[in-house]
Amino acid sequence: MGVSGCGKSTIGKLLAQELNIPFFDGDDYHPESNIKKMSNGQALNDTDRQGWLKTLNDLAKKQLIKSGCVIACSSLKQKYRDTLSNDINNQTRWLYLAGSEEQIFNRLQKRSNHFMPAKLLQSQFDTLEEPKNAIQIDIKLSPKDIIKNIKSELMTTSDFGLFGLGVMGKSLCRNLANNGFKISMFNRHVDGIEENVAKDFKAQYTALNDAQAFDDISSFVNSLQQPRKIMLMVNAGKTIDYVIEDLLPYLSKNDILIDGGNSNYLKTKERGDYLKNKGIHFIGTGVSGGEEGALKGPSIMPSGDKVAYKEVAPFLEKIAAKDKNNLPCCTYVGPEGSGQFIKMVHNGVEYVEMQLLAEVSTILEQSGKNLDEVANTLESWKETTNSYLLEITIDILRKKEGDDYLVNKILDKAGNKGTGNWTTIASAELGVPSTLIASALFARYTSFNKEERVSNNENFRNTNNTTSDIVIDDVRDAYQFARIINHYQGFKLINEASTSFKWDLNLSEIARIWTNGCIIRSTLMEDLVNVFKETSNLLTSSKFIALLNQYKPSVKKVVAQCVLNDITAPCLGESIQFFNGITTANSSANMIQAQRDYFGAHTYKRIDDDDVKSHHTNWK
Ligand code: 6PG
Repeated sequence: MGVSGCGKSTIGKLLAQELNIPFFDGDDYHPESNIKKMSNGQALNDTDRQGWLKTLNDLAKKQLIKSGCVIACSSLKQKYRDTLSNDINNQTRWLYLAGSEEQIFNRLQKRSNHFMPAKLLQSQFDTLEEPKNAIQIDIKLSPKDIIKNIKSELMTTSDFGLFGLGVMGKSLCRNLANNGFKISMFNRHVDGIEENVAKDFKAQYTALNDAQAFDDISSFVNSLQQPRKIMLMVNAGKTIDYVIEDLLPYLSKNDILIDGGNSNYLKTKERGDYLKNKGIHFIGTGVSGGEEGALKGPSIMPSGDKVAYKEVAPFLEKIAAKDKNNLPCCTYVGPEGSGQFIKMVHNGVEYVEMQLLAEVSTILEQSGKNLDEVANTLESWKETTNSYLLEITIDILRKKEGDDYLVNKILDKAGNKGTGNWTTIASAELGVPSTLIASALFARYTSFNKEERVSNNENFRNTNNTTSDIVIDDVRDAYQFARIINHYQGFKLINEASTSFKWDLNLSEIARIWTNGCIIRSTLMEDLVNVFKETSNLLTSSKFIALLNQYKPSVKKVVAQCVLNDITAPCLGESIQFFNGITTANSSANMIQAQRDYFGAHTYKRIDDDDVKSHHTNWK
């Protein structure tokens, strides 16, 4: 395509020859009336063009059934191109021969026997709506070079697109390239802030030699094989919606968008419905493992459009971490935003695991150990209760700056990006008591009140005595106890969501894809793969009943000592409190029911009748 005189016919013929497919000049298909009009120096209007464009569309469709073809047609407006590619949008490639008005005017002046007088050129440029989804070729080049460029553009379509080159996006690109995939990478251009990000990144790694780098959306999208597979690695939240809107004009029916950020699961469902209406498939996927995991193999939790998942599975499963049996830590999780839901719970569980390690490190330090000794103690726990977070905590404890421990120089205000908050909200909405996740989240919020903590400390000075009577093995067992409760609560929440939203999630598979690549990978998680094949409730597993009974005396002792010594340990404390609640046959909730009935006539059920009837008492 391109204005008259840009060289469409010449280039079209050469290209068709090169590709060994037929060539058709659109001008040969004009009805007599159009030719007459143009020869009289009159411009065609849209009605004149309509039938002609449909004829060319029919021609293209017929040729597609065979081997395809090259058609030369000015196609100046988007709506002409829409008619030309009607029903065959996915199989149409647009080549735009672009030149300046002056250049083309000079060319036309030199031509004889052409029914398009040069004076109509102005109207062509006025009409021209430059295409957003075309391979753009500069007509200054020689025909030979033009064909070479077109061929290389046509041949170099990538298998997979990565949109957003932040830390995770970059690592995933390298992972995909290391696994032999041909990728296109996009990062936006922001003057003075984000310039040539994709190109500079490509230049940094030889593994990215075959990758294509873009900061222009149209070229990025056009560089991808259809149906396109584009993974979005941008900030969760509104940005995802903006990016979707930016991409939509360039996408074709059946293209697939994958959101790999920590998006809210409800939003993922909304986005999936919205895109479905536009013929675009949407997959919301949790990705865990941080920068290193994304590079060497993350845990991937895709959900949503199951048919589309089949298309992207070869990519995601290849780059994912592998479990003990060499199976990918990536599986289709379930419908809607279920993948993002389980990633959210993963993060909630992660908050607790981190908090527990912070608590036990403090307790061990309070018992008189220096940080190297604390690290050595944790090192010895690897044998019974190893995890990625335990390993990194040991490294952190040992890290020194000069003679000082680095961790002691870090301001004690813990940040968060919101997933723990969402998990707590989801728990409340689903009626699941994920009390450890809430405790870990609120511990971060408490930490954030640094100034208030400092001033309160003046008024309510903590004794923080050195507690030499703390037994190290008790701390380890208390830690193991709390971790089991944490995992019980996390999977309970997932199971409840599965039932409520009719997702039919497989807890054992979820545990399996969390055995490697992700932040909460651990030996405990490996045990859970088998436990969840038998039951969806950890507290009914004979192995875990025995373990909790074994660890319970230790957690009681450790928590009691923390309370007596003014050591704050909210997650350890909550683990035994929750456990006592969930294992109490007759709770104090009868009193709550009586109080509700007293002041609000909310009624109550009785244990000495059928448990169904509602009763009300005049309590005075
Ligand atoms: C992961 C992490 C990752 C990220 C969290 C941190 O699984 O790779 O969970 O998603 O580190 O978003 O969350 P906070 O900033 O809320 O601690």
